[in-house]
Amino acid sequence: MSPSATAFGDVSALALAAADEVAKAAAQAVAARQRFRIVLSGGRTPAALYRLLATEPFRGRIDWASTALLFGDERRVAPDDPSSNQRMARETLLSGLAVAPGAFLPLDGADPDGERAAERYERDLRSELGADPPDLLLLGLGPDGHTASLFPGSPALDEKSRWVRSVPPPAAVTPVVPRLTVTPPLLLRARRTLVLVTGEDKREALKRALAQSGSEHQTPARLVWRSDGAVDFFCDRAALGR
Ligand code: 6PG
Repeated sequence: MSPSATAFGDVSALALAAADEVAKAAAQAVAARQRFRIVLSGGRTPAALYRLLATEPFRGRIDWASTALLFGDERRVAPDDPSSNQRMARETLLSGLAVAPGAFLPLDGADPDGERAAERYERDLRSELGADPPDLLLLGLGPDGHTASLFPGSPALDEKSRWVRSVPPPAAVTPVVPRLTVTPPLLLRARRTLVLVTGEDKREALKRALAQSGSEHQTPARLVWRSDGAVDFFCDRAALGR
């Protein structure tokens, strides 16, 4: 399915629109399946969105007790490390909720055995999802074209069965630490994917991600073109170069 791209004047407008999409997806999922499973992205971009979700009116629009907060990737650091995606989600989203989510399932970045952490998270995901796909997948885009922690040239891009992999530090982006990441077999099943992209440093990667053709190994974010569900890029003007 061809992704759509929507331009926003700035990060605040983008976060507001994304928060509305999350609230709508949550309402649809809970009405249909009594559960909303969202896969959170990491890095800096989603922080504004997560803060909005933890404040009114969005906090009151979402049935948090029926919501499972999952993660698409994690840096292999302690949960209180400043670069931890789990820490960012706790500070911007979880700490603002009046009702605890039905599930908060972070990846275990602190486990010194990455393979063990990946296998454990896959069990957690399969237990939460059962036969259902994630309802909403949030992704970001790195300046090198990566998404989640699927970096250019990574063997994890060719994973056909495992949902979670432990991967070495990236070559071209910070933090240069090993990561845990979900893989295409899980990512491509999402009912809806929202890719949030801000900043001039993403311009070239975004052009490659949205082009009609290109290499997923060069620009891993291009894998969303194979998604089972709808894919929308929400971009600020700096990233789109307009
Ligand atoms: C991570 C993210 C990663 C992120 C991009 C963009 O753990 O780093 O999951 O895929 O979305 O690197 O990061 P920024 O939002 O910080 O630019």
